[in-house]
Amino acid sequence: MVPLQILVIAFSLTLAPGYGAGAAVPRSVNTVETVAEWLQLEYGFATDQDRENAEAAGNLVPANGTPIDVQPQYFSNGTMRLFTTIPRFVSGVPYTLATVSATNGTNGPLLQPYPSYDWHNDNGDDCDRITSVYRVSITECNQMWVMDTGAIGTTKYCTPQLLQFDLNTDTLLHRYRFPNNTYTPDASLFITPSVLVQDPAPEGSCNSTMVYVADVTFHGLVVYDHEAQTSWRVENRFMYPNPDYGKHTIANETFYLMDGMFALTNDKSNLYFHPMATASEFAVPLSELNNQTNWANNPEALPEQFTELGSRGSECAASAIDGKNNIYCVTFNPIQLIMWNVNSTYDSENLVVLPAEADELQFVSGMKVVENAEGQEELWLISNRFQKIAEGTLDFSEVNFRILRRNLDDVQ
Ligand SMILES: *[C@@H]1O[C@H](CO)[C@@H](O)[C@H](O)[C@H]1NC(C)=O
Ligand SMILES: *[C@@H]1O[C@H](CO)[C@@H](O)[C@H](O)[C@H]1NC(C)=O
Ligand SMILES: *[C@@H]1O[C@H](CO)[C@@H](O)[C@H](O)[C@H]1NC(C)=O
Ligand SMILES: *[C@@H]1O[C@H](CO)[C@@H](O)[C@H](O)[C@H]1NC(C)=O
Ligand SMILES: *[C@@H]1O[C@H](CO)[C@@H](O)[C@H](O)[C@H]1NC(C)=O
Ligand SMILES: *[C@@H]1O[C@H](CO)[C@@H](O)[C@H](O)[C@H]1NC(C)=O
Ligand SMILES: *[C@@H]1O[C@H](CO)[C@@H](O)[C@H](O)[C@H]1NC(C)=O
Repeated sequence: MVPLQILVIAFSLTLAPGYGAGAAVPRSVNTVETVAEWLQLEYGFATDQDRENAEAAGNLVPANGTPIDVQPQYFSNGTMRLFTTIPRFVSGVPYTLATVSATNGTNGPLLQPYPSYDWHNDNGDDCDRITSVYRVSITECNQMWVMDTGAIGTTKYCTPQLLQFDLNTDTLLHRYRFPNNTYTPDASLFITPSVLVQDPAPEGSCNSTMVYVADVTFHGLVVYDHEAQTSWRVENRFMYPNPDYGKHTIANETFYLMDGMFALTNDKSNLYFHPMATASEFAVPLSELNNQTNWANNPEALPEQFTELGSRGSECAASAIDGKNNIYCVTFNPIQLIMWNVNSTYDSENLVVLPAEADELQFVSGMKVVENAEGQEELWLISNRFQKIAEGTLDFSEVNFRILRRNLDDVQ
């Protein structure tokens, strides 16, 4: 397949169709700035006892930790709290959900366990705690949904669960354990939650919430209806990895990974999604996904409702959507931050490349759009050198992990 020639924006922002010809050209193009960086993760603990417990459990091997997701929480006074996740795809990870503190360690800022160290399931023996988290999602209700896989490495210790935390009090509001008809214990891995709050505060109760979950290794989607306390499985051929894109090259290094269903975003009307091993983007209407009757007898129902939108010519991992329905993603080869508006066709005309340093982006495994205290939207990214992690060639004398931020006012 011939890679698409993607439109590059330089200093005078070239506006893609969909932004309207003749729209005011922004004064300047924003840059991507580094907020935090690590040579290797630095684990902090509230007490020496917590650190000793982590060591005793064999869970303090800093070289094993890879940060995968980022999620900022802005307070009304303009300060913020930054969350990250460290999934336990290997052992040696003392906690899997963390905040990034303001204290610097030797290799980068110190992490702190969230909500506390004793919430973390040391070796898979307490399923009421958190076992392993790839990604989280904070809603407009100031609640954080945490997708816990229940697995350490390839061993499934616990039922996958969604945890809903109140970020005002840092307490658990709700726990949902997925029923066994929504996954296959030996094969499924729930990695990404995309949340839709249909009754946001202050008017609404935030109870009418849907969470769409990607099953990366058993190639499906699970829809969780919070109000009805039920969930169902949806499968479609577009959720499978494409073997033509199972070999990945990032910054001249190659690895193989047949990851299926990976990134999910929604604009309140459609779910946009892609497996990792593909160059295409896909969509399905939420109205169909949200109707449990459609899928009750057959998770592979309604194949005609799923659309292949188009190709970007390269794989990308995480995605995020802003309030103007622009979806962002970082392609592997070449490494580029791209933006596409859902109202336009998914083609080279409408895929806009935003300036960014390829060396800083590398593999972007987590991405969010958040509103800051001034009401402006920002794109947040977390990058790691996954191509080196996959090949075991990580070099801890260089910066391996970065949290990056970009204001979006110029492109909106
Ligand atoms: C800002 O608000 C947060 C949350 O209420 C609080 O924890 C923090 O101390 C405040 N910071 C300042 C500088 O006022
Ligand atoms: C931590 O390190 C960063 C980068 O070197 C620096 O910008 C920041 O000021 C340091 N923070 C503190 C609290 O020392
Ligand atoms: C799923 O759980 C139900 C209720 O606990 C149980 O009866 C059933 O055997 C389980 N099915 C499988 C496939 O494990
Ligand atoms: C929302 O859900 C909570 C917890 O399930 C419940 O206590 C509350 O009454 C619900 N609120 C509304 C308006 O339904
Ligand atoms: C990839 O290899 C080419 C050719 O050797 C080199 O010019 C380029 O700088 C390399 N890129 C990176 C990101 O290492
Ligand atoms: C849900 O789907 C079923 C068919 O699968 C249909 O009969 C029903 O009208 C739909 N419900 C809504 C609210 O659209
Ligand atoms: C996209 O299309 C919808 C429906 O036609 C319209 O309401 C919305 O304003 C459009 N958004 C943008 C960013 O053009």
